[in-house]
Amino acid sequence: MLFLSSDHAGFELKNSLKKFLTEQKIAFDDLGCDSPAPCDYPDYGHKLAVKVLENPDNRGVGICGTGLGISMALNRHAGIRAARAVSVEDAELSRRHNNANVLVLAGRQLDAQLATAMLEKFLTTEFEGGRHETRVRKIEIS
Ligand code: RB5
Repeated sequence: MLFLSSDHAGFELKNSLKKFLTEQKIAFDDLGCDSPAPCDYPDYGHKLAVKVLENPDNRGVGICGTGLGISMALNRHAGIRAARAVSVEDAELSRRHNNANVLVLAGRQLDAQLATAMLEKFLTTEFEGGRHETRVRKIEIS
């Protein structure tokens, strides 16, 4: 399942992505927020991390104003590899090389067209494995 989560600063971009996903008949679950009223990005980052970690096939999209705060909250969770991406290439490499399970976007910096292209790339790109497998394993600390 694909989970979406944002604070108020990501609310509008999240709505644009929801429209794209609905048109493409891609199933998703929106974990909030549900309005542009101010809220706290860590709440939505932690909520998203918990849902993504329920199944290895799950993916997430986290959005706040810059993408910075929500990525910090997400990446506190072992097993979450949240990639704050600013380009389609970032989105692609985050999957191919880093096996990212969450795409993080800046709601106040990205236009909907670019963000949509990034999401599409993120969802359709597989992890390459091989030499990247060892490196990705080393991200986790015990
Ligand atoms: C909210 O104003 C803003 O600080 C938040 O969305 C995010 O950009 C924090 O990293």
